[in-house]
Amino acid sequence: MTVYESGTPDPTSPHRPPIVQFESVTKTYAAGTDRAFTAVENVNFTVEDQIDHGELIAVLGPSGCGKSTILRLIAGLRPQFPATEGEVRVAGSPVAGPGADRGMVFQGYTSFDNRSVLRNVAFGLECRGMPREEREERAREWIGKVGLDVDQDSSKYPFQLSGGMRQRVAIARSLVLSPRIMLMDEPFGALDPTTRFRMQDLLVDLWREQEATVFFVTHSIEEAVYLGQRILILSSSPGTVVRDIEVPHPDRPAREMQREPTFVETVFEIRETIEQLEAD
Ligand SMILES: Nc1ncnc2c1ncn2[C@@H]1O[C@H](COP(=O)(O)OP(=O)(O)OP(=O)(O)O)[C@@H](O)[C@H]1O
Ligand SMILES: [Mg+2]
Repeated sequence: MTVYESGTPDPTSPHRPPIVQFESVTKTYAAGTDRAFTAVENVNFTVEDQIDHGELIAVLGPSGCGKSTILRLIAGLRPQFPATEGEVRVAGSPVAGPGADRGMVFQGYTSFDNRSVLRNVAFGLECRGMPREEREERAREWIGKVGLDVDQDSSKYPFQLSGGMRQRVAIARSLVLSPRIMLMDEPFGALDPTTRFRMQDLLVDLWREQEATVFFVTHSIEEAVYLGQRILILSSSPGTVVRDIEVPHPDRPAREMQREPTFVETVFEIRETIEQLEAD
């Protein structure tokens, strides 16, 4: 039986507010100055709070269209937060800053260089004041879950890790905190194709297990179609949502599924859509 903490919404209730909602969101950097620049304009979308499973939403769009801006608005991180106009809501409440309900994996590597893998993964729990033994046990569990070697890798420092290993650490660092929403900004962009397939499979497994809502920014249409159940396509700057489409669940390993004719066809259609948008 599942026990729900008081204060958290009852998932059996039919009236749960959306987990994430953008209502007419515009972000203008340096608003009111002569350097004012509107990065995203009138962004609207709603992600329902579904019982027992989160959606995996891929965000696609040309470079500079505001993908990172949108993720950081959800995360409540400045200077993207707060929005200049409109409202970003998480579970029904306007975002007021960062929170433990949202985890972020940033574009590029962001581990602490002076902390071992174990202490990097345990960092968030340490901030929460969890006793050392308990947090290190949890960290070790997650180091294993993301496919690192608990005995060999825990004591390594980031400079001793490959790119793929570092991204595993970044994912473990975020998921160890069990966020309801996971915000991933091109986490696999710098990886070689084989490692990338492996990481995509890992993400799908962890996502199924965690039941979190995942936003995943990528430049790869293949990656978006494989990982996403839903794809938000943004226009070029100032970004706005121009397509919001549903695609089938990933149900096979990345390498296998991405070779299939129906998959290739979907990728082709989306590529055409994007090219069309860019030509308009
Ligand atoms: N702090 C900031 N101050 C001023 N302009 C900014 C700031 N952050 C981003 N921008 C501008 O806003 C626009 C959107 O940036 P953002 O980083 O959200 O794009 P992106 O879609 O994530 O791009 P990429 O695919 O290259 O990562 C860009 O033109 C960028 O130069
Ligand atoms: Mg970006």
